[in-house]
Amino acid sequence: MKTSVSILVGLLLATSCISCHSSKENTGDFPVEKEIDYCRTQAALTLSALPSADKIPNSVDKGCSSWNYTGVGSWTCGFWPGILWYLYEDTRDSLWEKSARKVSDLILPFAYKKARSHDSGFIMMTSLGNGYRLTGDLSYKAGLLSAADSLAELYNPKVGTILSWPNMVKKEGWPHNTIIDNMMNLELLFWAARNGGDKRLYDMAVRHAETTMRHQFRPDYSCYHVAVYDTIDGHFIKGVTHQGLSDDSMWARGQAWAIYGYTMVYRETGDPRFLDFARKVSDVYLKRLPNDRIPYWDFAAYEISPAEPRDASAAAITASALLELSTYVADADSSAYYKRQAIAMLEALSSSAYQAGTQSSAFLLHSVGHMNKNWEVDASISYADYYYLEALIRLKRLETGHSVLADL
Ligand code: GLY
Repeated sequence: MKTSVSILVGLLLATSCISCHSSKENTGDFPVEKEIDYCRTQAALTLSALPSADKIPNSVDKGCSSWNYTGVGSWTCGFWPGILWYLYEDTRDSLWEKSARKVSDLILPFAYKKARSHDSGFIMMTSLGNGYRLTGDLSYKAGLLSAADSLAELYNPKVGTILSWPNMVKKEGWPHNTIIDNMMNLELLFWAARNGGDKRLYDMAVRHAETTMRHQFRPDYSCYHVAVYDTIDGHFIKGVTHQGLSDDSMWARGQAWAIYGYTMVYRETGDPRFLDFARKVSDVYLKRLPNDRIPYWDFAAYEISPAEPRDASAAAITASALLELSTYVADADSSAYYKRQAIAMLEALSSSAYQAGTQSSAFLLHSVGHMNKNWEVDASISYADYYYLEALIRLKRLETGHSVLADL
């Protein structure tokens, strides 16, 4: 693997310089092409150091230079192939496609297994979803349809949401639990309903978004990480946290998932209630951000100490979502505001304080996976890199006069 990959690194670095000069005039003030080049260089270095395709880059610990790997089935396993697919989309270089396929093909059999949690949406849309979008490979389409049906098995019609974590039912005493992250995985249901799957998948996704909107947010539109419901009559029992600082605080990545999730639900439904809600959940996040636009891992963490870690992953997810949101908001001033905020986040993430370049081959430093378990604290994490690259590609599309999203 190593020999062919070093040829790949050479070729990719060479093509990166060509593309750097070709579209510079279209990129505005933010050097989007330069930042995409940076991602391409870093990803090529990661590829060249991979012992084998089944070692999936996951995180780089604080102060370290080498990747910790994950395997097929972990909730993060789709982000690395997703990065490879985005690089293929940007370059159309078949070398990236080949690398993306290798990992996606390893994930494909997992699409036919029973969904263990809501995470199958993350796993499948990043890998097979991007793969199908870019290649039309029917084996990816079939895998996505199967994974969507399996995810739908976790839906409880009494509650009107998906059971996010079956393993937490007994462990935490949360009979039916729905985490805010689950909003992201409605995309798999919408996709399937549009691509030959059961039309009821669409209704489930809409009902999940409505139920979550009704119960999982406080009056200021910040969200609880976990909503706990009764399985018999479906009533909302309580809102609690798992990865945030406290039950009442705003966990940064949770709010980022809400911003991205409701923007996506508006895209899929065209229902103005969801656009309005996407704006409200964005506005509370934006209002409470520190000046540099990168949140603490939890918005209340600053009260413990200003030295608490930031979460670059939340910033990357939010930047990508706000670019999309900016294209749906009719009022020109508000639209420009969301776009400006997204670019300010990308500027911060592209500064030397957040770039991993001199330390490792990840894109970004300073994300927090799970503070309460002391996992991946102030680390580089694959999903931060994935959404950072997605945001850069979305910005490049906007700046070159295209729709923010490529065809889905
Ligand atoms: N979905 C898990 C997380 O955001 O950490």
